[in-house]
Amino acid sequence: MAPVKVQKICCIGAGYVGGPTCAVIALNCPDIQVTIVDLNQARIDAWNSKDFKLPIYEPGLEDVVRKARGRNLFFSTDVDKAINEADLIFVSVNTPTKKSGVGAGFAADLNYVELATRRIASVATSSKIVVEKSTVPCRTAESMRTILEANSKPNCHFDILSNPEFLAEGTAINDLLKPDRVLIGSLQTPEGIDACTALADVYANWVPKERILTVGLWSSELSKLAANAMLAQRISSINALSAICEATGANIDEVANAIGFDSRIGPKFLKASVGFGGSCFQKDILNLVYLSESLHLPEVAAYWRQVVDMNEYQKRRFAKTVVDTLFKTITGKRIAVLGFAFKADTGDTRESAAITLIKDFVAEKALVQIYDPKVEHEQIWLDLAEAIPGTPIEAIKKQVTICASPVEAASKAEAVVIATEWKEFKEIKWEDIYATMDKPAFVFDGRLLLDAEKLRKIGFHVTTIGRGAA
Ligand code: UDX
Ligand code: ADP
Repeated sequence: MAPVKVQKICCIGAGYVGGPTCAVIALNCPDIQVTIVDLNQARIDAWNSKDFKLPIYEPGLEDVVRKARGRNLFFSTDVDKAINEADLIFVSVNTPTKKSGVGAGFAADLNYVELATRRIASVATSSKIVVEKSTVPCRTAESMRTILEANSKPNCHFDILSNPEFLAEGTAINDLLKPDRVLIGSLQTPEGIDACTALADVYANWVPKERILTVGLWSSELSKLAANAMLAQRISSINALSAICEATGANIDEVANAIGFDSRIGPKFLKASVGFGGSCFQKDILNLVYLSESLHLPEVAAYWRQVVDMNEYQKRRFAKTVVDTLFKTITGKRIAVLGFAFKADTGDTRESAAITLIKDFVAEKALVQIYDPKVEHEQIWLDLAEAIPGTPIEAIKKQVTICASPVEAASKAEAVVIATEWKEFKEIKWEDIYATMDKPAFVFDGRLLLDAEKLRKIGFHVTTIGRGAA
């Protein structure tokens, strides 16, 4: 049998991964009909909104959707119809860390993947290529295959591929248009290799052939966890060094620059910070830890766990620095937190370091004034309610305010904390911030974003992560 020529794609899950990925596929493959489906009606309505108020903020995304929507890109809640029509189905649903049961706090919750897979099995009346796109533990493809085979109708054959997504939020469109690589894993059987070729041909519409890597199914699944673990490990390593810098008077930027010149190390992903966040790093490492433990490799598990432990330490260390510097108490003091997203250029707050900081400030009885240019207010309240369980949201709202501008957030505050590296924070008129704050006015730069010397000239006391006291 020759590989199928893919004509219709269905993507189950219209989130941060499924939405942008399949929008870019539609843009680059005008001959393929791409339908992105989701159970969440509000999300689909937003994708279909006339004024392009899309459910996620991602630079360049609106442009892609404007070009392809209604041409060969469609958003729908009719999951069954899209499954049935498609030759190839991406499963791009959420895979959060389990909150209860075996592996709670570590293992991935595969309930959504399983439900989507069962849906495919129950409604499909013809053969399909099913592609696992969500980040999942190794051997998930194998479970999907078992479910599909056990529940399929006669004459329905399913080939399973793993095609992990490596996009980073904030740069997703560029990452998708010019990926470092596309990775496709398949069973090394003739059918598996044909399915792999069918998907590779889709990407070949815009990705150079040498960047499309085809490997075994399990290598592909493990590579995604490994890539994220290695990236996060670099951040934890530089953050560990930032603590040494603060204690010795060395400068973490100078250290990162010096080591990054070594071509074997390279300059990227060496920015010290208040801690990494996002939906992937912590989840994927904990997945790797769980996998290692399940494989009876406790030393390997402990090694990777330390990357997450160091990240927790960094967040707590930063919060403690704020309290210690403000004369060891922040009770009743106003603290402005600039940035709530886990990184700049996204409205996503999953695992954002800002959440941990604010939780600690609230526990210390401070009054927190938050400003973020993109995050929805409702999302901030949801995150804080989850992070501070047992405290009614009305009580949280007595201590936390969401503000419409940096100046409003800084009003009568004793300290400004930079939690996200939004470019606009560099461009603030810091004189105005100074004027509105109580004195002495402190700035804590958790993102190495600001020109500390300039701020000191205005009168601020500045503490920058990875730099000894001036
Ligand atoms: C990451 C991976 O980069 C991507 O390949 C994968 O598909 C999903 O997970 P993402 O989480 O969207 O992407 O963003 P990323 O740019 O990797 O940043 C993750 C976190 O690390 C952010 O909180 C960021 O601020 C932080 N970070 C990043 C640092 O603290 N220092 C750095 O040098 C780089
Ligand atoms: P990610 O960052 O991995 O894309 P998101 O949470 O942003 O994760 O998106 C996952 C999407 O998948 C959500 O919008 C959710 O409603 C959707 N979803 C989960 N399970 C199913 C399912 N069985 N059928 C359709 N959509 C689903």
